Amino acid sequence: MRHFIDLLDWEGKELRQLLQDALRMKRDRRRGKDHVLKPRRVLGLIFEKPSLRTRVSFQTAMAHLGGASVFLSHQEVGLGQRESLPDVARTVSQFVDAVVLRTFHHATVVQFAQHATCPVINGLSDYYHPCQALGDLLTMREALGTLRGKTLVFVGDGNNVARSLAIGCAKLGMRFVLSAPAGYRFDAAFLDTFRKHVANGALEEIGDPAAAVSRADVVYTDVWTSMGQEDEAAARREAFAAYQVNAALLQRAPAHVRFMHCLPAHRGEEVTDEVIDSPASIVFAQAANRLHAQKSLLKFLLTRAKD
Ligand code: CP
Ligand code: NVA
Repeated sequence: MRHFIDLLDWEGKELRQLLQDALRMKRDRRRGKDHVLKPRRVLGLIFEKPSLRTRVSFQTAMAHLGGASVFLSHQEVGLGQRESLPDVARTVSQFVDAVVLRTFHHATVVQFAQHATCPVINGLSDYYHPCQALGDLLTMREALGTLRGKTLVFVGDGNNVARSLAIGCAKLGMRFVLSAPAGYRFDAAFLDTFRKHVANGALEEIGDPAAAVSRADVVYTDVWTSMGQEDEAAARREAFAAYQVNAALLQRAPAHVRFMHCLPAHRGEEVTDEVIDSPASIVFAQAANRLHAQKSLLKFLLTRAKD
C-alpha cells in the first residue's frame, strides 16, 4: 500500500512524473478535458485543524476526477476519543478509496496509515506538509523552467512546510537554504533523516537572511507561529523580528527572484504587503497549483494496483 505521508520514500523520478502528469492535466482542464476515473472514487478528509487551500483543492480535485469527497472535522470523528484511532482507520477504509488527514501530531497520520486499508495522504501535520511541497515544486517548475541547480531560500521557521520543501527540493536537484534564528532551525533528528534519505541533497543553514537570499532564485516564507503553537506567538514574534521578508531584504536577492508563501500569510509579520503584492510574488499561482499537483497525486494513488 502506497501512502503520501512525507516525501522521504518517494523517489525523484516519481516526483518528476507526478509533476509531469499535473502539468498535462492542468493543460487538459484548460481545454475542457477532465480525467474521469471509472469506477467513481470517494475521498475521505479528516481534519483536526482549519484549512482553506488543502480542503477546497482536494474536494475540487475529486470532482474533476468524476468522484466525490466526504469531509469530517475532528469534532465529528473524535479521533481517539469517541473510538480508537485504529478503529476509525479500519472503518473509514471500508467506505472510501483514500483518506487525507490533517493532524496536530505527525504520529497520528503514521498510526492511521498502519491500520488503514486504503492510501493515506498527509494534508499537514506538525512535522511535514508534503502536499504543499508537491504543489510548490510544480509552481517552481513553471516559474523557473527547470528545477535542477536552482536555489530556494526559506526565511523563517524550520517548520513542517520547510522540512517537506527541503526534502522535495533535494530530491529534484535543487539547493535548499534555511535562514532562521537560533532555536528555530532544523532539529537534529530531521537533519539525520534528511542525510540518510537524500544522500547528495544540498541543504544549508545561513543565519543572516541578507547573506542567505543573495543567491536565491526563490525566497519563501511561512508564518512564524504554526497552528498548535499559539501559546508561543509572542516569543516567536520577538525571535523572528529580523527575519521579515520585506522590500529591503528582497533587494539583497538577484533581480529575477520570485517570492513564495504557502499561505495563509500574516501580512505585516513574516511578510509585508509590498512583497506579497509585488510583481515578484507568485503566491496565488502557487495556491492554485495545489489543485493540479494533488489531482495528479490522487490519480496515481487511486489507480495503482493494490500490493
Ligand atoms: N497552505 C495550506 O495548506 O493552506 P490551508 O491551511 O488553508 O489548507
Ligand atoms: N506552518 C503552517 C502552515 C499552514 C499551511 C502551519 O502548520 O500552521
